[in-house]
Amino acid sequence: MGKLDNMKFTLDKIPRGMIYHKIIESVGYFMTSFFMPLDDHSTIKKFESKFAEYCDREYCVAFPFARTAIYFALKNLNLSKGSEVILPPITIKGIVDVILALDLVPVYVDWDIDTLNFQLDDLHRKTSPKTKAVVITTLFGLVPDMKVLVDFFRDKGIFIIEDFSQCLNGSFDGKRVGTFGDVGIYSCSSIKTLDTLGGGLAITSDTATYEALKKSQAGLSLADRKFLIKKAWVNLVRNVATTRLIFSLAVFPLLQIMRRFNPEATLKQTGSRNKDRLPTLPKVWFSSYSSFQANIGLAHIDGVSASDQIRIDNANFLKARCDLDKFPKTTKSSANVYWQLVMVQDPKKAQEVFARHGIDTATTSLELVAALEKYPNKTMTPVAEKIYHNGIFLPCFPGLSNADLERIVNATNQLI
Ligand SMILES: Cc1ncc(COP(=O)(O)O)c(C=O)c1O
Repeated sequence: MGKLDNMKFTLDKIPRGMIYHKIIESVGYFMTSFFMPLDDHSTIKKFESKFAEYCDREYCVAFPFARTAIYFALKNLNLSKGSEVILPPITIKGIVDVILALDLVPVYVDWDIDTLNFQLDDLHRKTSPKTKAVVITTLFGLVPDMKVLVDFFRDKGIFIIEDFSQCLNGSFDGKRVGTFGDVGIYSCSSIKTLDTLGGGLAITSDTATYEALKKSQAGLSLADRKFLIKKAWVNLVRNVATTRLIFSLAVFPLLQIMRRFNPEATLKQTGSRNKDRLPTLPKVWFSSYSSFQANIGLAHIDGVSASDQIRIDNANFLKARCDLDKFPKTTKSSANVYWQLVMVQDPKKAQEVFARHGIDTATTSLELVAALEKYPNKTMTPVAEKIYHNGIFLPCFPGLSNADLERIVNATNQLI
């Protein structure tokens, strides 16, 4: 067993992330997902209003996925075939799938290493009269200079979608992320800070945009119970797997064995994903968001900022105490929420050093969409590529003890 013999089998292993639900809640969701009503419209409306108010917007429209909300936000613009949409180089592949399904062209702009958002020179180069929309994505809970970006796009009449799935409660110069653009889109999918077992919430203050999105929502098929049960099951399994006891006794040792045989396999935060081109968009992308999910959102939304604050404090503690200065700097006016605390490192070495300290780490599970082989407009984006391969997440989630944080600092300082 070599190195494995030296590992202490104690109960203090630190997982790579967490599910923002109590175990008892996850058990309840799974059990009740088999029979609870899914189509109570007044509950969905209540959650939409609550989320809109929470985000300082007039309106919210709930879709089954963020990608579906993006699909309709773009479809309702009636753009001509071949219009270009600027995208981040790293995001979920589903966003590229919906853009292609609308006969639009994805254009990838590389990142700035300090903000992990659009690099301005590359943005200027890639913008043309054909550019009609942009998806500004605030990844990892990091906030770029939103003013510079929004002024640039507004000046050119480009429709702005903000994907703030990883940055709920982030702000720039006191203004909430998600409220700078024409539409803000939040995915309440697994492991997010407001996780409702999936869902894509579109927020806006423009009445015409809202009415068009409402019409799109009305055309969706009934909520898909089988899919919801599957989501509730995955939520429960992930939640159990990341409890300290199960993680220390079973998951962590298993990950170490897997890492020895296939180091790549354990690097992606929630595993690798399919990179094939979709022949058609799956039906489930066009099923309704359910009242079951809305109820979860209503129960959790008021607790999000308190758990954010713990995570932000943890991230700031780690950033201050780690001797390595390999964290994105963002800007003085950024209020980051650090959904993940990302650090640029040799990922395999980092994973090994952290593992010796009983800490599990990972890189993003999102796709380097700019480099997808089977998709059009493949583009070199060297900064994003570096983050995709070398951006390692330091655990900073709520629930870490002071002793855990000290261990993470010690491990990080051994990477020098
Ligand atoms: C930036 C970003 N956008 C979108 C999504 C998910 O979108 P969807 O709800 O379509 O699965 C995620 C989830 O991982 C994400 O991180």
